[in-house]
Amino acid sequence: MNVIVVKDYDAVSKEAFAVMKEVVTNKKDAVLGLATGSSPIGLYKNMIQDHKDNGTSYAQCQSFNLDEYVGIDRNHPESYWTFMHENLFKGIDLPEDKIHVPYGSTKEDCEGYEKAMENVSVDVQVLGIGGNGHIGFNEPGTPFDSVTHKVDLKQSTIEDNARLFFNGKIEDVPTQAVSMGIANIMKAKKVLLIASGEGKAKAIQATVEGPKTTDVPASALQDHPDCILVVDEAAASLLKK
Ligand code: F6R
Repeated sequence: MNVIVVKDYDAVSKEAFAVMKEVVTNKKDAVLGLATGSSPIGLYKNMIQDHKDNGTSYAQCQSFNLDEYVGIDRNHPESYWTFMHENLFKGIDLPEDKIHVPYGSTKEDCEGYEKAMENVSVDVQVLGIGGNGHIGFNEPGTPFDSVTHKVDLKQSTIEDNARLFFNGKIEDVPTQAVSMGIANIMKAKKVLLIASGEGKAKAIQATVEGPKTTDVPASALQDHPDCILVVDEAAASLLKK
């Protein structure tokens, strides 16, 4: 794992953007694995600004998002579909028909997403990390060989998500989601994990220095050949080395 520690969230976002820009500069038709949540918002802002200022184009790219809530409509203001359009897609030139976000909750819906990814190799997978070490919505205990599946969200994840989204209303946060599995994430050519703030420090320490265990889903990344963690000083504060 390549751990890059920078001062604060702004610096994390700039550093993560540098990784993304290199990928899309070197490969015009790059396949982007994307995440939602607060962590990548700064990266996405940088991508939008760079698209405006320098014309970096995503016209030949395609994207696959990690996850989506179950039980809310795509057009719901808090759906991940809406999040991605608001925070990234409306500001770049990625064609609408190249955008993939999982949807639904049945076995067939999950198989459909697997099928869409079948002949695709993700060039860079953006990840945030949960305070409990989840990646995507692969909560602690998820097998490392998992593929797209329906998940019951842990109470801690529901609380985290209510703090930042859903206007703080915990009762409005869906209790289930569909998520790519850990095996899907591990197949990406490059993984770019973004973390900032003290609340992520334990998870980052366990991911980097702890044993590889399904109790900490992100620890699977220890086996990834090209995994970059961009973290701020607070998120890195429990790292021993
Ligand atoms: C979002 C996702 C989640 C988040 C994680 C961290 O698509 O897959 O794993 O990355 O919950 O969320 P934030 O960035 O809001 O702290």
